Parts: sequence; structure tokens; C-alpha cells
Amino acid sequence: MRSHSSIAATALMLLGVRAAVSSESDEAALTDMTSECTPYSYAPVAAAESQFPPIWTPVSAMVSKSDAGYAKFISINASIPNIAPKGVLGVPDQTIVSGYNPADPDCWWTVTQCVTPKVSGVKGDIAAAPEPRTLGYGFDDGPNCSHNAFYDYLTEKNQKATMFYIGSNVLDWPLQAQRAVADGHEICVHTWSHRSMTAFTNEQAFGELWYAMQAIKLVTGVTPTCWRPPLGDVDDRIRYIAQQLGLQNILWKYNSNDWAVNTTGITEATVQGNYDALIAAVGAGTFDTTGAIMLTHELNNYTMQTALDNYPKLAAAFDHIVPVGVSLNKTQPYVETNYTLPSFDAYNAARASGGSSSASSGSPAASGGSGSKSGSAAGNQATGGTSAGFVLQVSTLTLGLVVLGAALAL
Ligand SMILES: *[C@@H]1O[C@H](CO)[C@@H](O)[C@H](O)[C@H]1NC(C)=O
Ligand SMILES: *[C@@H]1O[C@H](CO)[C@@H](O)[C@H](O)[C@H]1NC(C)=O
Ligand SMILES: *[C@@H]1O[C@H](CO)[C@@H](O)[C@H](O)[C@H]1NC(C)=O
Ligand SMILES: *[C@@H]1O[C@H](CO)[C@@H](O)[C@H](O)[C@H]1NC(C)=O
Ligand SMILES: *[C@@H]1O[C@H](CO)[C@@H](O)[C@H](O)[C@H]1NC(C)=O
Ligand SMILES: *[C@@H]1O[C@H](CO)[C@@H](O)[C@H](O)[C@H]1NC(C)=O
Ligand SMILES: [Zn+2]
Repeated sequence: MRSHSSIAATALMLLGVRAAVSSESDEAALTDMTSECTPYSYAPVAAAESQFPPIWTPVSAMVSKSDAGYAKFISINASIPNIAPKGVLGVPDQTIVSGYNPADPDCWWTVTQCVTPKVSGVKGDIAAAPEPRTLGYGFDDGPNCSHNAFYDYLTEKNQKATMFYIGSNVLDWPLQAQRAVADGHEICVHTWSHRSMTAFTNEQAFGELWYAMQAIKLVTGVTPTCWRPPLGDVDDRIRYIAQQLGLQNILWKYNSNDWAVNTTGITEATVQGNYDALIAAVGAGTFDTTGAIMLTHELNNYTMQTALDNYPKLAAAFDHIVPVGVSLNKTQPYVETNYTLPSFDAYNAARASGGSSSASSGSPAASGGSGSKSGSAAGNQATGGTSAGFVLQVSTLTLGLVVLGAALAL
């Protein structure tokens, strides 16, 4: 007897939608962007949907008032610095921006690029890799569905990076998110819905971080201990909330502006100029004492291709290119203690000897051995993915909704 799901699968195939790929290694093997970006369902995500806010929607409140997330929020709320939200639901209020006290009482990066907090007990930001002549290499806004060519290139170069993932993208593209762990990259949080963090209430800002952390944990099995605010929009109130969640704030001093091409006067030539200026600064000795971090994106084909095109020049200029956590000797990048990153020295030694500098210990990435990614990317995959059959990722794309409608009509 045919199940509803097999009927749906047949309908979808007739409509030209590919059958679901259900493992990280299958997804990572895709080479055309259309296939990579065809929505699929992933059982653990489908099963947990009610525990998350709607994806790509700014968090308006914690979803449940009776779970660990809310309890954690209530336990810290009274101690959060008393700084008013600078907008509503992630949208900045321009009158607050323009009327802001130039003495910068909140250490508001957006206005002053302040990275040293004014409120006592709040930890400062990392805006540069501490090691000399070193680039802390990272990319924002992933996982992008079509990132295989980009990740393949990094793997070929035995190059790891820090991936600042958006929670909503992680639930949209869980198998792509798993690839970061399988390939030995470091994952940090880039919020749930990618809005301006200072324009949220305490509870909303907490939720933007909490749900992104939970999404990454659900899908990859690891809980990040670092984050980056969208647009760099952070003040001491937001820093404190992130700190209470165990998240270290990673900013940047150099901006490629790759995300902004063809908006507000930024051209591809502007972006190349920004890369070239960074490379020239290495030669000029700017990083002889302290290294660099540049803002770049896993956002679309242009930003990823530009990263690849510039990699050989960056590698020739800097002595070392490492994930940000490696530049900090942060050998335990996640809450889960059975996963480690190499120290800065170990990473470089492994590269120098041509060996793998990948993450190790009990990590899925390390267990893969000879290039195989099977069994990678956390236990969640094993528990959920296999019987996925053909469920739709209905929450995301209109295409999915239309196709589901067609399938049910059968
Ligand atoms: C958290 O603190 C803020 C600021 O003091 C307050 O307005 C809000 O009501 C508190 N939220 C809860 C759920 O107690
Ligand atoms: C930006 O615009 C130029 C001129 O229209 C076009 O050639 C280029 O492909 C665009 N680049 C991106 C990344 O959209
Ligand atoms: C991912 O990259 C593709 C290819 O450039 C682009 O079409 C798509 O919009 C990107 N996805 C997101 C969510 O930005
Ligand atoms: C960008 O798109 C081109 C054309 O589809 C493709 O050949 C190339 O591999 C893509 N680059 C990346 C980094 O995905
Ligand atoms: C990382 O560890 C090495 C070896 O102990 C040390 O020389 C270096 O100063 C450390 N770097 C940082 C940023 O802690
Ligand atoms: C690491 O520990 C967690 C529990 O904290 C477990 O779920 C996971 O499977 C372990 N991963 C590996 C690769 O051993
Ligand atoms: Zn971003």
C-alpha cells in the first residue's frame, strides 16, 4: 500500500523536484547549485519545529515559558545592564542613532566602533587575531545552500575557517550546516533572524541567541561558544546577554563589504580594493604585532567566489590563516567537551607537515578518516535522517507550499 509520503514523492518527482538527500555526505557530493538549493526535509528538524520561533522572523518572545531557555532568561534578566532597546523588533530607530550621546556610555559599536565595554563585568570583543601576521579567517551568514564548491576548495587547501551561522539558515539547510563540523571548521552563532541586536528587548535578544544555539546543537550536535552580531550591532546590554550564554563576541577591524556589492555605491572593484588593501597592509607591517580579522561572507556565489579568488594572495601575504578560535588557542570550541580544535601551534605544525589540521578527539570530523564523511556530523543525523523518505520543508519556501498542495490534492 502506498503511503502518503510515497505519493507525495512521486508527485514531486513528476514536478521535477529532486528526491531528498538525507545525509551530510550525500549533500556535500552535489555539484550543481540547483540541486544543492532544492529544499528537503530533515526529520530531526521537522520534529523540533514547535520548539523554535518561525524561521527568518525576529524573535518576539521566548516560545515557551516553561522550558530551560526561559528559566535561563529569567535567571539573568534582573542583572542585565539597564540600557534601553535602540529600536523595535530588530529594526533600529534612526532618531536614537542620530541622537546618541557622543560620550558613548553603552560602548555601542555601530556608532563608535567601541570594543572595550563601559559597564563593569562585561567582557570585551575580539576584533583582531592576537597572533602576529595571522588572519583569523571567518565567514558570516551561512550555511548557504550552494556552498559545496566553496567548502570543497577549503578542503583542498586544508584550510579551516570560522563559520558564523544564522539559526534560520541552519534549520533550512541542516545537512549543509553539518558539513562545517565534518570538514573541521569552527561554528559560531550569527543570531536567529539576522536583525539589529540592540533593537531588541532583553527577552528578544536572548531568544535571538538562544534559538540559534539550539538550532546548531540540534543539527550538528555541538553548542557554540562564540558569536558575531549582524552588522556588528552590539552594546554592553547585548554583550552581557551573550556572555551569560557563554558566547564570546567576535567582531572585525577590516571589512570587505562583499555583502553590499551593487548597493549604495559599492562595486565589485570596491570589494577587490578592500582585499588588496588588507594584503598591502600585511606587507607594510601593520600586523607584525597583532593579526587581523576581516568581515567576509558565505552569502552567495559572488561572496564565496571572491573569497576563493583572493585566497592564494592572502595565503602568500599572511604567515598564518586560521579559524578565529585557533588564533585564540581555544582548543575547546564547544560546550560539548568531546570535541577539540588544535592549538595555534598545533594547527600550524600540522599544516607545515602537510598533515590534517582538522578538529580531533571524539569529533565526527576526526572519525571520518580517509576522506569519508559518512557517519559524520553528530549523532542527530543517525537518529533521524534515514527514514526521512520525502517530507517537505514546508515552513520555508513558497515552492514547497505549492508543491505540497499539489501532492495533497492527489
Ligand atoms: C526583563 O527586564 C526588563 C528590563 O528590566 C523588563 O522590562 C522585563 O519585564 C523583564 N522581563 C521579564 C520576563 O521579567
Ligand atoms: C553588479 O553589477 C554589475 C553591473 O551591472 C554586474 O556585472 C555584476 O555581476 C553585479 N555583481 C553582483 C555581485 O551582483
Ligand atoms: C545562497 O547562494 C545562492 C547562490 O548565489 C543564492 O542564489 C541564494 O540566494 C543564497 N541563499 C541565501 C539564503 O542567501
Ligand atoms: C559560482 O558560480 C559559477 C557558475 O555557476 C560556478 O562555476 C562556481 O563554482 C561558483 N563559485 C562558488 C564559489 O560557488
Ligand atoms: C597560544 O599558545 C602558544 C603556545 O603555548 C603561545 O605561544 C601563544 O602565545 C598562545 N597565543 C594566544 C593568543 O594565547
Ligand atoms: C559527544 O558527546 C555528546 C554528549 O555530550 C554526544 O551526544 C555525542 O554523540 C558525542 N560525540 C562524539 C563524536 O562522541
Ligand atoms: Zn551577517
